[in-house]
Amino acid sequence: MDPHFHILLVGDDNANLLVLQQVLDRSCEAEFAFTAQDAVFKLAAKHYDLVISDYTLPDLPLAEFMSSLRRISKPRVLPVIVMSDNDDPDAEEQSFRLGAQDYISKNSRFGVIEYRVMRVLEAEQNRAAMERRYQDQEQKIEKIRQNIVEAFASIIEGRDQLTGLHIQRTASYVSMVVDGLLKKGYYVEELQDEAKRNAIVQSAPLHDIGKIAVSDVILLKPGRLTKDEFEIMKRHARIGGMMIQETLKSIESPLILKTAVDMATYHHEKWNGQGYPDGLKGEQIPLCARVMAIADVFDALVSKRCYKEAFSYEKSFEIIREESGQHFDPLIAEVFLSMKDEIIGMSEGWALGSDEELCALD
Ligand SMILES: [Fe+2]
Repeated sequence: MDPHFHILLVGDDNANLLVLQQVLDRSCEAEFAFTAQDAVFKLAAKHYDLVISDYTLPDLPLAEFMSSLRRISKPRVLPVIVMSDNDDPDAEEQSFRLGAQDYISKNSRFGVIEYRVMRVLEAEQNRAAMERRYQDQEQKIEKIRQNIVEAFASIIEGRDQLTGLHIQRTASYVSMVVDGLLKKGYYVEELQDEAKRNAIVQSAPLHDIGKIAVSDVILLKPGRLTKDEFEIMKRHARIGGMMIQETLKSIESPLILKTAVDMATYHHEKWNGQGYPDGLKGEQIPLCARVMAIADVFDALVSKRCYKEAFSYEKSFEIIREESGQHFDPLIAEVFLSMKDEIIGMSEGWALGSDEELCALD
């Protein structure tokens, strides 16, 4: 057995604790806690691999002690063996019901006690090793995911003549708006979960990935698109959603996958139903796409394109105000406008003026 196991022996039966300590001495370092409170204090201060507790404790019922252990050791589940000096089947059943890994009679032979303690510790060791392997795998998958997102983002930058700044700025606006909505108490149900907020921010750089499928003639056209060209350009939304679905389905969580697909597919929908590809209206449009829409349009307004000069911040915020309830969700527009100074500060922080010219209007 691993000699580095640390065991906490809990109870006020001093003679039994001393015997136990001697039995386990060869393989474990065992310490005492003579009350449940003392045990809780020690467990909060130090890592133990196992708790062996008397069924009857001097200061707390076993149920309360076990629930304190669960709280302290969270998220880990600390293994517990309960010992009793009477062979009460109710106590045994109760111990297992409370989550004990084993129940041992104090009348058992020392060899049996040692064997059963060892079995619980080995199971714990195997569980910890599996958890470490699982975490390693998770980290590798996360790295692959990040690499794919970065590769996608750089492909879009290359195709669309966008600098990385455009993608970084829109992702930053998205992040600020999401935080702003939550602070205002808007869409709390959708945004209170941190994982959902992160999914929106992480997915933002992929929203225009579908532009990969649009020909250079249209994508890089130095001027406004004709009606037919615009129809082709519009396809980038649905194609982007499909690309993300196909490429990331095996490595992304369902939450991130759905968010990224929704953002790419619906970021050109409008609140009034006049957008594309599906002409969704109001809250039919996924929230993540409604947030992306305002970030994307604002950045286009304040950026220089080959067919227009950059609009001033004043003018750009005025357009956002006019489009509230038309292009944009009014609550999101309200939050965006209320964050004017922060948005400008962030935008200037990204050195807006150094962007290359953006040509095609999408
Ligand atoms: Fe787009």
